[in-house]
Amino acid sequence: MKHTMQYLTLPRELGNRPALTRLVERVLASWPDHLSYIGERFGNCEREHLDFCEHISQNVWSIISGDPDRYAENYRWTCDRMLEEEYHFHMTGEYRYKSFAEVQNGIDLEADYMTRYTDGLLLSQIFWVNQTRALHTYVRKFLTQVQPGATVLEVGPGHGLFLALAAERPGASVVGWDVSASSLANTSWALERMGVDSPRLEHQNLHDARTDEQFDFVVASELLEHVDAPETALRRLRDLTRPGGKLFINIPVNSPAPDHINLWRSPDEIWAYIRDGGLRILTADVFPMTGYTVEEAEKNQSTLSCALVCEPV
Ligand SMILES: C[S@@+](CC[C@H](N)C(=O)[O-])C[C@H]1O[C@@H](n2cnc3c(N)ncnc32)[C@H](O)[C@@H]1O
Repeated sequence: MKHTMQYLTLPRELGNRPALTRLVERVLASWPDHLSYIGERFGNCEREHLDFCEHISQNVWSIISGDPDRYAENYRWTCDRMLEEEYHFHMTGEYRYKSFAEVQNGIDLEADYMTRYTDGLLLSQIFWVNQTRALHTYVRKFLTQVQPGATVLEVGPGHGLFLALAAERPGASVVGWDVSASSLANTSWALERMGVDSPRLEHQNLHDARTDEQFDFVVASELLEHVDAPETALRRLRDLTRPGGKLFINIPVNSPAPDHINLWRSPDEIWAYIRDGGLRILTADVFPMTGYTVEEAEKNQSTLSCALVCEPV
């Protein structure tokens, strides 16, 4: 991670945002050296962004309040795993694994590993600016279109925040599919804690799911970099979307992680992949990782999140 400034105290922007402040303090209690990163992450952010962080932090607290130290430690553990992968990526120019089978051989997707990883990714929604900005785009540009009676499917809900925010839309019904039973158990637990009533959660692999059902809104956030045959997966997501419906797709570029197998090297490669999958791009945003501009991230091959709202052609 790049650090350009040293902060010795919490950024004053956190000021009157109690849930965010508590979260930051909890992470710093188990990882004091993260302070300068925190300063870079939250210093100089616009008020609307920090207010959104406060809203998401309230949701996060409802999930982690029983054992916040576990989440703080697992966030640090996840950052360490990411650093290992970043090192590998910058040495080789490639992600470590190329298929889902290789990931399954390399890490135990059903064990403790996935719980720690999902905990870490939950906190990353606040602590990694590209994640928060992608989530904010999802709320502002996608969920605002969800009307009463609409159905929203998320494939790969993981920590559950995207589904919980969809469930906040009046009259919407939400469905989650995940290939990992342990990930689904985490989603179920998190949604219950966030007060989401009886969501439909199903153990489904996007590639094999047999259904004639279509949904008004389909969400695939941080999913397509994980799956085999990403072109087929994208067409499958398109076919799950009702005519006139919308998809939210969030894919990171140059984003080494233990279970990322599909590498896109620039936002342009993402746009081409989406269009080739039979989708029209309605909005497209690019968010660089903490401490970088878009140009710096592109030059340095650092992570950029690409968040799109699309519709089937
Ligand atoms: C990194 S998490 C994404 C969590 C959340 N959507 C987000 O944006 O942060 C990826 C999720 O996709 C699930 N997943 C991976 N391959 C899948 C597949 N073929 N079918 C369904 N779910 C899959 C994983 O188990 C995991 O829960």
